[in-house]
This record gives sequence, structure tokens and C-alpha cells, in this order.
Amino acid sequence: MRSGRITTHKIQAMKARGERIPMVTAYDYTQARIVETAGIPIILVGDSLGNVVLGYDSTIPVTVDDMVRHCAAVVRGAHIPLVVVDMPFMSYQVDAETALRNAGRLLQEGGAQAVKLEGGKPIAPIIRRLVDAGVAVMGHIGLTPQSVHKLGGYRVQGKTSRSADVLIEDAMAVQEAGAFAIVLELIPVELAAEITKQLDIPTIGIGAGVHTDGQVQVLYDMLGLGLDFKPKHAGNYASLGETAVDALERYSADVKSGAFPTAANSFYTDRDEAAKDEPKQPAAAGRSARRGS
Ligand code: KIV
Repeated sequence: MRSGRITTHKIQAMKARGERIPMVTAYDYTQARIVETAGIPIILVGDSLGNVVLGYDSTIPVTVDDMVRHCAAVVRGAHIPLVVVDMPFMSYQVDAETALRNAGRLLQEGGAQAVKLEGGKPIAPIIRRLVDAGVAVMGHIGLTPQSVHKLGGYRVQGKTSRSADVLIEDAMAVQEAGAFAIVLELIPVELAAEITKQLDIPTIGIGAGVHTDGQVQVLYDMLGLGLDFKPKHAGNYASLGETAVDALERYSADVKSGAFPTAANSFYTDRDEAAKDEPKQPAAAGRSARRGS
């Protein structure tokens, strides 16, 4: 372990101190550098990469190989945040031994410090097996995207008192199984507050209101990179998708007009050193003069 890497214990200490915990997803080296530079203490290599990076309409097709590859890239880019990686669909549900083998790959080949599993009470024995083997586990209840077909869509969970009670039981089971923290996705604010009060481990909310111990967002949603879809819970921190389209339109126009590249973007042979300081020629003439030199 590199010194200075944030640990699961440090994250739990943040809850004990009443310090809120920011977390965000990242899927590659450059994103990880940006997230680390911003001082975010936890990076989630989410299987949401199936949606935002690979263009699937759910996280179900994502494989352990996908997660290992992206996780390793993130770990190369970020040396301080705790890196948590999602175990993808069917990499842990079949049996505890399969879960252990796949978690082992994500830690050994991917370099993550912890794995995240979706599910409550039914998945608790798997969490227990991983924790007993020395794997740090983050739970995830509420809307669990890998179960989208069973849930009948991406909808808020725990709105009735019966379903809220089930989620409270799920949260307790995940904690008792040894998880160090738990994600609460798309549940009512009051329920998230109640679960946060009852649990000793940190709760990290997404679309679960302000009373959780931390918040997590999909990086692409939070930065407004997606042009077609921005979930209500993602906030409004940037519109990088529109910024990128604008930059690319200006680049395209400059390439077509010959305004790009300029001398400042170009390289010259030594005998051209003097020429580059000359006043800029009209675009077309400049290009042909350079080509002829
Ligand atoms: O895959 C993911 O990005 C997640 C977050 C939405 C919590 O699980």
C-alpha cells in the first residue's frame, strides 16, 4: 500500500467526526488524475461504465475483465483516494467461491482497495465470506441497477412503509456482514436519514437526499458530459458536453478555413527558424508556402 492512500478506516473516522464524504466515479487514468487533484477521498470504478463509457443500455453486459481493465487505469492515475470497484452482474451472485475469486482479481489485477456489491439480506452471506477472507466491501441497496429488470425500471425504492422496512433490514444485514460502508441509491430522503441514524457504518447516498454521511455521483452526470440525459439528482456543476461540442465546432471551422494550426502549434526545420517570426500570411498561401519549404 502506498503511504498516503486513504483507507476504509479513515472513511469510517470521517463519519465518527461528522465529516461528510464526497465520492465520485472514474473510469480511466485521466479522470482519476482529475478526481484526485480535486481532493475527493473515494473513487468508485462503477459498473455504470457500461452505460457512460461502453454505451450499453444497462450495466448487465459488463464483465469482470472490463472492470479489471478500467480499475487498473484508475489506480495508475490516483494514488491518494480509496479506490472501490464494482463487482459486475453475476460475478458474485452465483456462490461465495466465485465471488471470492472475482474479488481477488479486482484487487490483485485491478489494484482496488475495496469492492462494491449490490443487494441486501440475500447477499449478506457473500459479503461475510469476502470480509472473512480479508476483502473490504462496500454494500449497495435501494435502486440496484443490476436488478433493473426485476425492479421494473430505474425507479425510486422504499416509498411504502413495507418496502422501507425491508430496506432498513437490508442495511442492517449488510452492516452485520462486515461491510465498511453502504451506498443508498434512489430512496426517499426520510428513509435515507433513518438508515443513516441506525447504522454505525457510513452511508453514501445518490438520489437519497442530504442526510446521508456522503454523496456519490456518476462523473459524466455530475460534469454534464452526456448530451442526452442528465439525472435530476446529479446537480448542476458543469456542462462539459456542450463545452466540448462548442470547442469541436470551432476546431472544425478553423481546420476548414486554415486558421488552425498556427505557427505556435507547428514545428520547423532550423532553416525556417527566422520565418516563423514573420507576420502571418493569408491562410491558404501560408499552408502552400510551408508545404513547399
Ligand atoms: O456504478 C455506479 O456508478 C454506481 C453508483 C451509481 C453508486 O454504482
